[in-house]
Amino acid sequence: MTQDELKQSVAGAACAYVAAHLPQGSVLGVGTGSTANFFIDALAALKDRLVGAVASSEATKVRLEKHGIRVMELNDVVSQGLAMPIYVDGADEITRDLAMIKGGGAALTREKIVAAVAGEFVCVCDESKLVERLGKFPLPVEVIPMASAQVMQALAKLGGEPKLRANCMTDNGNVIVDVHGLAIADPVQLEETINHVTGVVTNGLFARRGADVLLLATPSGVRELRRA
Ligand code: A5P
Repeated sequence: MTQDELKQSVAGAACAYVAAHLPQGSVLGVGTGSTANFFIDALAALKDRLVGAVASSEATKVRLEKHGIRVMELNDVVSQGLAMPIYVDGADEITRDLAMIKGGGAALTREKIVAAVAGEFVCVCDESKLVERLGKFPLPVEVIPMASAQVMQALAKLGGEPKLRANCMTDNGNVIVDVHGLAIADPVQLEETINHVTGVVTNGLFARRGADVLLLATPSGVRELRRA
């Protein structure tokens, strides 16, 4: 199976998961990236079940709307007290205890915000993303542009090799610094440490609030893992 076929199979499994678990009339949180795109395409068949969807990026918003799926502002969902029981998104790396690195597509901050509101984070990946230890994939950090030099110095002190992502501006008007070569022994601690560096908006470790469910595409089918 190609990687795209694996992504398509997990997107189908995620739709089946949503059909089985999302109460009628709820809002769905939708992530960003190539796996999320396959999910959005498959979700079109379920659009009448949803009150609407909250998008984690401008690209996801455009794709949802192209399928006729109503996109809602997160602030409206929260202030109207609407339920958003599920958030579906991909990851760049994930461990067996469902801590992740995200942000390869530069949408990490909005992804973390939408995920924080959702009841359950359902991660959709092909098996190449499952790792013993996080950090082989460079850790994305969203940074206020005027602070990039000082933040890169602080990140280098943590033992990584920070590189400014070329030609990249986030949906929030910021830059991305990718930190290479980090040995991430304690993802929760590192997530907090990096978030405390002045000038950092957020970082791509999703460990304090990891996934609750992992749908993992393998050539022999989609496996479901739950956080212990
Ligand atoms: C977007 O910023 C990311 O967090 C994506 O969710 C992550 O990079 C996974 O993307 P793919 O599904 O394209 O691998």
